[in-house]
Amino acid sequence: MSRATAASISHDALRHNLAEVRRRAPNSRVMAVVKADAYGHGLERVATTLRDADAFGVAALSDAERIRSVGLDNRIVLLSGFDEPADLPIMRRLKLDAVVHCDEQLRMLELDAGDSVSDPLRLWVKLDTGMNRLGFRPERAAELQQRLRGLSNVHLDLQWMSHLARSDEFDVPSTPEQLAAFDAALRDIDGDRSLANSAAVLGWPASHRDWIRPGGALYGMSVVDGKTGADFGLKPAMSLHTRLIAVKQVRAGDCVGYGGAHVCDREGRIGIAAIGYGDGYPRLAPAGTPVLVDGKVSRIVGRVSMDLMAVDLDACPEAKVGSPVLLWGPELPIETIASAAGTISYELACGITRRVRFIDA
Ligand SMILES: Cc1ncc(COP(=O)(O)O)c(C=O)c1O
Repeated sequence: MSRATAASISHDALRHNLAEVRRRAPNSRVMAVVKADAYGHGLERVATTLRDADAFGVAALSDAERIRSVGLDNRIVLLSGFDEPADLPIMRRLKLDAVVHCDEQLRMLELDAGDSVSDPLRLWVKLDTGMNRLGFRPERAAELQQRLRGLSNVHLDLQWMSHLARSDEFDVPSTPEQLAAFDAALRDIDGDRSLANSAAVLGWPASHRDWIRPGGALYGMSVVDGKTGADFGLKPAMSLHTRLIAVKQVRAGDCVGYGGAHVCDREGRIGIAAIGYGDGYPRLAPAGTPVLVDGKVSRIVGRVSMDLMAVDLDACPEAKVGSPVLLWGPELPIETIASAAGTISYELACGITRRVRFIDA
């Protein structure tokens, strides 16, 4: 029998979440962010299900190749742009939009302009309004427009974007300040605008503009502290589950797992579930982190190991070898596990490893 550990991906949930972000931003087009293998959910399956999106956002040329290979002709935006001149013909072949965020990319475009006048590239100019990651200083917008519009290999219609650093905090001034800096820089410049990631779609309507760029929300995940995707009307798209492969009878004083980290305070039963950090479950999830065994809330005991974890069966008297174990999913928010492990839901979903089977649900 194959290993029971699997990630089920709900296509209904993906479709629901796309509809939900559209409902929240009815006047914006949607660039569905599917980088990092669609946040660990599987790029081809997600892009196919979300093919009604107006565009896809990816981080790597290879992601764009994968989307084209399943026959999708949506616009695709390479969110970090190109790295070297050899990327430019590939981008033309794949009909990609590119983000331009630095002077090195500008120079590559200027050198390329002499050679090619057909197939002008559609560009998104990225302004750094406060994140201090990628982007030009906002006051350079007019100069950038002039330089790029003078290039024969660049589409005349430029699009403008920025990224928000703290949109998941609904009560700090950072997002309005970034919006103001963006608006001031583009006061006399036309072209589509885009700023809103998922948290901004959910909490900052003023940021929606022409294009929203949700990632996590499409998968039903939240990065807003203390809130789950479901709190925003989203449906978790991934369920991570496995089965018990052993049940142990333990006595008071018995130690469980590496380092004897859990010492039993009484007689009872411990279940051994076929999942560990080798599957992408976080080793840093401490004892006490919830899991559902047979649909009932249980908890991890001892340390998570590579292939296995031990769970307390006190609350699950019916549990036996073969009983289902849910690590996260609609009935157990991934955000709860992420917060117990000191990380965010995105990292957990992206961290599912290749030995985990994916099931389309
Ligand atoms: C430029 C850009 N836009 C949009 C997103 C989507 O963010 P989120 O998944 O929080 O919606 C990301 C992801 O990090 C990004 O880098």
